[in-house]
Amino acid sequence: MAELLAAAGLPAVLSYAGRTESPRAQPVPTRIGGFGGAEGLARYLKAEGIGRVIDATHPFAAQMSRNAVAACAATGTPLLALERPAWQPGPGDRWTMVPDLQAAAALLDGPRQRVFLAIGRQHLSAFAGQPQHHYLLRLVDPPGALPLPDCTLELARGPFDAAQDRALMLRHGITLIVAKNAGGAGAEAKLTAARDLSLPVILIDRPALPPRPVAATVEEALRWCHADLGV
Ligand SMILES: NC(=O)c1ccc[n+]([C@@H]2O[C@H](COP(=O)([O-])OP(=O)(O)OC[C@H]3O[C@@H](n4cnc5c(N)ncnc54)[C@H](OP(=O)(O)O)[C@@H]3O)[C@@H](O)[C@H]2O)c1
Repeated sequence: MAELLAAAGLPAVLSYAGRTESPRAQPVPTRIGGFGGAEGLARYLKAEGIGRVIDATHPFAAQMSRNAVAACAATGTPLLALERPAWQPGPGDRWTMVPDLQAAAALLDGPRQRVFLAIGRQHLSAFAGQPQHHYLLRLVDPPGALPLPDCTLELARGPFDAAQDRALMLRHGITLIVAKNAGGAGAEAKLTAARDLSLPVILIDRPALPPRPVAATVEEALRWCHADLGV
């Protein structure tokens, strides 16, 4: 999205929550950190004269999306969510869909498995009640203390490749994958690899969000920017 906006010559600022230590360089100016809730974001939109907001965050970053809806409503700023469609199971997939992290953790109540817990760093404690498993964690940055007693760390940043994810799962003797239904291409490799290896997947559904206009592609979002500008 940032590349398209820069190429189109549209002035833009990219706002990071600040969760990764060294975010990728971007072709538009960036800022990092929260605003102080929806009210803080609304103040920022006014102060900076922001004309439109594209919520391009991760589908599980629900607070960011809720704040965007509230702040845009309060300030009358047009809002568009850039949201990649959720993944759908196909032939050969062995997925169990669950509504949230707690439901995923409850399904792990059983004998020891070797679990690829591909949910990022923030919500690992939801699985602390299932310490009997070995967990493979793939994270962008080295974490601090971990709530899981038996785990292996893989430090890596997407996009990921299905052949490499297959090799990773074989190397670690993975018997089960737990993942969020993020959608998109960058993190789909683990699901392709799971299908190839006929491994079961517990897939966590996205959190519910307030209704907002949604675009599925960056091109669609760029057209919305142009239409809104009357260009
Ligand atoms: N959650 C996931 O599963 C997940 C997975 C992969 C990547 N990510 C990425 O990690 C980042 C944070 O995710 P999260 O789940 O921690 O988010 P979150 O819980 O939804 O929001 C964290 C905080 O970010 C601040 N914030 C809101 N809008 C913002 C904006 N436009 N720019 C900067 N900060 C904003 C808010 O703080 P204030 O109240 O102080 O304004 C909010 O409370 C996102 O960039 C997301 O793309 C998340």
